[in-house]
Amino acid sequence: MNLRLITRISISDSQVYLVRVPGDLEKLPLDAKEKEFVKKQHRRLKQEFFSFNKFDKYIFVCFLPKTGKKSDQIENARQKGHKVFQVLAKTDMENVALKHIEEKDFELVAFAEGFVLGSYRFNKYKTSDEYSNKKPAIKNLKVVSKTLSPIELQQVAMLAKANFFARDLVNEPLNNLNAETLAERIAEACKKRNVLVEVMNKTKIASLKMGGLLAVNKGSVDPPTFTIAEWKPEKPLNKRPYVLVGKGIVYDTGGMSLKPSNYMTGMKADMGGAATMAATLCAVAEAKLPIHVIALIPATDNRTNGNAYVPDDVITMYDGTTVEVINTDAEGRLILADALSYAKKYDPELVINAATLTGSAMRALGTHGAVGMHTRAGIQMTKLIKTGEDVYERVVEFPMWNEYNEQLKSNVADVKNVGGATAGAITAGKFLERFTDYPFIHLDIAGVAHIDKKDSYRGIGATGFGVRLLFRFLQQMAEK
Ligand code: BES
Ligand code: ZN
Ligand code: ZN
Repeated sequence: MNLRLITRISISDSQVYLVRVPGDLEKLPLDAKEKEFVKKQHRRLKQEFFSFNKFDKYIFVCFLPKTGKKSDQIENARQKGHKVFQVLAKTDMENVALKHIEEKDFELVAFAEGFVLGSYRFNKYKTSDEYSNKKPAIKNLKVVSKTLSPIELQQVAMLAKANFFARDLVNEPLNNLNAETLAERIAEACKKRNVLVEVMNKTKIASLKMGGLLAVNKGSVDPPTFTIAEWKPEKPLNKRPYVLVGKGIVYDTGGMSLKPSNYMTGMKADMGGAATMAATLCAVAEAKLPIHVIALIPATDNRTNGNAYVPDDVITMYDGTTVEVINTDAEGRLILADALSYAKKYDPELVINAATLTGSAMRALGTHGAVGMHTRAGIQMTKLIKTGEDVYERVVEFPMWNEYNEQLKSNVADVKNVGGATAGAITAGKFLERFTDYPFIHLDIAGVAHIDKKDSYRGIGATGFGVRLLFRFLQQMAEK
């Protein structure tokens, strides 16, 4: 879909008008009866969304309330954008014009964003062309504004594309996306954008002694990969790079600590962190942000097999730490620990990790936000949380209190990979922290990377959570 800026609406276009108060209706191309109807319904029932079928086009009137927090107002506009999209998606309309009667560009942009983000479909495995999964006909969303910069609109479209890339990777099942094909697809996307990529194979990973990644991979018939992608513009503003680490478990059966089957379904999404970080880096490169950013993606599936790692194994990690495996289903932290130790070599400004790490994070926040934890990165964490409110990919800070380390003490090794029944998201974060010596933010996106019920423009299945959040965060880092 095309997003572009125009100055005049053509009469053959479907039209969307964003209004604030009933008085705004006077400026709209509706007849007296229609205006009366809208006023009445708005007054009596607080109805905010109206659509008029004119057969050759649609006219929509959306009231955008000016109450509550600004971030809630913006989210309201995104969701209205999706509502309009849903109506038009069932028609053959190709062109839609969008106008804000009060010329408030921030709501205009948000509306367009919801409209575009909600257009995502994962249809590749549908062989029938029934209406419900048919590609919507809409070709152009034309935004009417005299003040909006075209770049702002372009960025919305660019970020939607990056978000779709992440969703495409997450929605892909294991039989079409193992560690090697994940690395290939990331490498392909990177090369298109002048991002340097190196995919380390099993031999290389073994020679580096990445014991965490190798242990999880032992039960797999497919080799692991460790992808390094680097965006280094000519004169970066940062001397030390930002490093993005993403969990790339292409399938999590739990391993020998096998998941019951009702908990296993959906575990193709356990590479959600990898998808988010790869897509974010691509967006950074596409926007040519003047900052040096590196993504590290360790990847493997976690399965049972003759040679699979088992509980009680003691493994030696990349940095030499020994880990007693209590549960092979706590595999994400093992592959991430190696990537986090590896990140030290870059002397990073900040490392951000994204991972579908724990059921505990999902139980704590449901599908509405990610758990965030940090070490030595208080200022950046505050910025990230604020950005999360703005883009509505919200982050809730959990503590990094040292008392939680008690739960990770092992009798036979330096540390255990599981911290017991309580505070599971936190003990997982504390485990990761051991492998860092730089400013570090950890995002547990288990509840938000993949959702089972359709939710407005986030859709159903993969959501691409974190791409808009991290891009906007890094964009601020590039403004300093
Ligand atoms: N991939 C899962 C976490 C997960 C659960 C993601 C639900 C998305 C939805 C992770 O590898 C896992 O299995 N974690 C275990 C850890 C436990 C064994 C300490 C968990 O949270 O139950
Ligand atoms: Zn697991
Ligand atoms: Zn997992």
